[in-house]
Amino acid sequence: MKRIAIFASGSGSNAENIALYFRNSDKARVEAFYCNNPKAFVIERAHRLGIPLMLFNREKFYSGDEVLNDLRSRGIDLIVLAGFLWLVPENLTRAFAGKIVNIHPALLPKFGGKGMYGMAVHKAVIEAGEAESGITIHLIDEVYDRGKILMQAKCPVLPGDTPDSLAERIHNLEYEHFPAAIERLIDE
Ligand code: GAR
Repeated sequence: MKRIAIFASGSGSNAENIALYFRNSDKARVEAFYCNNPKAFVIERAHRLGIPLMLFNREKFYSGDEVLNDLRSRGIDLIVLAGFLWLVPENLTRAFAGKIVNIHPALLPKFGGKGMYGMAVHKAVIEAGEAESGITIHLIDEVYDRGKILMQAKCPVLPGDTPDSLAERIHNLEYEHFPAAIERLIDE
């Protein structure tokens, strides 16, 4: 049984979807949520799902090993970044090399990098006049949105799309593909 930790900064709809996907699995389960934002709705979701949540600030995350030690104490095998907006520090990327997976709401290497998250990505895609967008599920290292791509899935950008309508289409792709991609990674 593999133990998954999910890091999220905002709504946490992917975090919840993944937790529910593995709820009755004999391969993996979601052990805890980790969050950097005391106002994030993912905290409410954690309570509702009965999943432990660790809240941390910048200082805790970037100096010292408090988060790393918490992950170790729970025997975490895999870290999933589901809408997590901070760069993961080196103590974690080293301890979990090849075991941190991220989802990005666009087709990397386009529309990646610092500042490119959530709505900012969808707005940039629409402003660039792209005919399609999608999701990228990839392993992470110490640079934003770089690392081995595990899979991509595409959807059209439709005439008249707003960042909100595109975000909804992308979220549906994420719900469909992210849990299964995590499961495949665990199977390998
Ligand atoms: C998701 O669309 C995810 O791809 C994106 O944030 C959203 C979080 O939604 N992640 C990034 O932009 C990372 N660069 P959620 O909180 O409802 O799961």
